[in-house]
Amino acid sequence: MAINENNGQGKPGEKPPLVERPLPPCNIIIFGATGDLTHRKLIPALFSIEAQGLLPEHVKIIGFARRDYSDQSYRDELKASLEEFAPDLWKESQDAWPRFAHRVVFHRSDFDNSQGFQWLKERLDKFDETEGTGGNRLFYLATPPSTYSTVIDQLGKAGLAKRDGETNNPFIRIIVEKPFGSDLTTARALNTELKSVFDEDQIYRIDHYLGKETVQNIFVFRFANALFEPLWNGKYIDNVQVTVAETVGVEQRAGYFDTAGELRDMVQSHALQILSLVAMEPPNSLGANDVRDEKVKVLRAIKPVVGKDCQECVVRGQYGAGQINGKDVPAYRDEPNVPKESVTDSFVALKMEIENWRWSGVPFFIRAGKRMGQRLTEINIVFKEIPPILLKQLSPTGVEPNVITIRVQPNEGISMRLSAKPPGAQTRAVPVDMNFTYGTSFGQRIHDAYERLLMDAMLGDAALFTRDDEVEAEWGLITPILEAWKNTPAPDLPNYAAGTWGPEAANKLVADVGRKWLDR
Ligand SMILES: NC(=O)c1ccc[n+]([C@@H]2O[C@H](COP(=O)([O-])OP(=O)(O)OC[C@H]3O[C@@H](n4cnc5c(N)ncnc54)[C@H](OP(=O)(O)O)[C@@H]3O)[C@@H](O)[C@H]2O)c1
Repeated sequence: MAINENNGQGKPGEKPPLVERPLPPCNIIIFGATGDLTHRKLIPALFSIEAQGLLPEHVKIIGFARRDYSDQSYRDELKASLEEFAPDLWKESQDAWPRFAHRVVFHRSDFDNSQGFQWLKERLDKFDETEGTGGNRLFYLATPPSTYSTVIDQLGKAGLAKRDGETNNPFIRIIVEKPFGSDLTTARALNTELKSVFDEDQIYRIDHYLGKETVQNIFVFRFANALFEPLWNGKYIDNVQVTVAETVGVEQRAGYFDTAGELRDMVQSHALQILSLVAMEPPNSLGANDVRDEKVKVLRAIKPVVGKDCQECVVRGQYGAGQINGKDVPAYRDEPNVPKESVTDSFVALKMEIENWRWSGVPFFIRAGKRMGQRLTEINIVFKEIPPILLKQLSPTGVEPNVITIRVQPNEGISMRLSAKPPGAQTRAVPVDMNFTYGTSFGQRIHDAYERLLMDAMLGDAALFTRDDEVEAEWGLITPILEAWKNTPAPDLPNYAAGTWGPEAANKLVADVGRKWLDR
């Protein structure tokens, strides 16, 4: 697993190496090179890797899209987007631009045009000869999901996916963006299509949350501290809460989001990935398959929410007009390109149970929403209360339970809420926080998730990418809820005001089992 390590020499304040071994030469081919994701995330990530001196000399970046660019005008466009989307990086690292620009070329074609893929093959073969890219190819599907099949098919027909026998040398890999399907049937179909052209070990399904330092830290925190693992079970833990809250609405993505909704967009991937890292058993090794085996096992142990359970265990919501940070924001249905009668969920809360030895009886709550009061992704592990004997004496209002909070974003870090005695004559328990933040403990900026994941894919480390059975296990949990929603009328929407923590029903969901959300 590509967790940063520094060979046991790590001390707070030291800078651990970002890669464990040098990146290999290769051709990186971005399908969808003129799109939003490429400009906002992929190019800044690749440029940052360049700026840190980690991109080896023999790497070419080939942008594939329909628009009419020359190599030079495409480079100019990328430069402008770096200035816009990564201004700090650009200010610090402009010197790296000529080196980076030299690697970039534009390949203009429609995905429907098989000749365009033949030309691509000729171009890549030529780079292998003249630029030393060594036959290694990393394809990135940064395109609308409706085009995935065409690109996969064209790559197969053009002989661009075929490896030399069973060896991984040279390597050919494909990164596939999310959403990976829109339900279990479509995810399975996409897996079948991909695997008719590529082998599973060539396929890197991306969920960028797994590239976030704090998400990887869940793993280290659990398995590298003797302090926590013995308590990490239903005997000591009362409930687990995963919150993925955004203050933004649908922005420019209404066309996609209104057909997907929050359950598909955030829960199927990010929230279930976080949950599986929190709940998985220790893997046999940090190898990709050992880690993913354990994640799949725990996903399969989640009790499916089906039929009438959907009404008791799932809350869907959509925001009305409200205020965020003192600014008026419109209702979901008044956002540009959203139909006035839309019943798409911009909020979802779930109660899940994991039916295994470790977690029996512990509710796992997930909530994800747009236009919430605060932008925050965090996990709260809420411990059981102490035995009641001393409770009243220590505090008339009760002693607060211990909580471990893993902050994925912002202010990345981990804190623990403990009880301590305040100074003075009385023996009282009041809650205090012990806090670890990346900024202060390691004194370095946190690398963007896409940097981490692009480097892992170049290195052939798939631990932070999802496997076929994993993505299907996730969809296996989400699809029955989507089916049940089709058959039951939506609640009265909108049912929460922008700037709040979602509909009242989400509070009732946890209150019904005697818990409450830990709102910040
Ligand atoms: N944007 C994000 O922040 C974000 C975040 C997470 C995941 N994603 C995922 O990333 C993928 C790309 O999203 P996006 O927002 O970047 O999409 P986008 O802005 O609509 O860009 C689509 C890209 O695909 C190209 N394209 C589409 N049809 C084509 C065809 N027939 N032939 C050749 N090129 C074609 C477009 O090229 P032309 O412009 O030349 O037509 C453009 O470069 C999607 O799967 C999305 O779900 C995006």
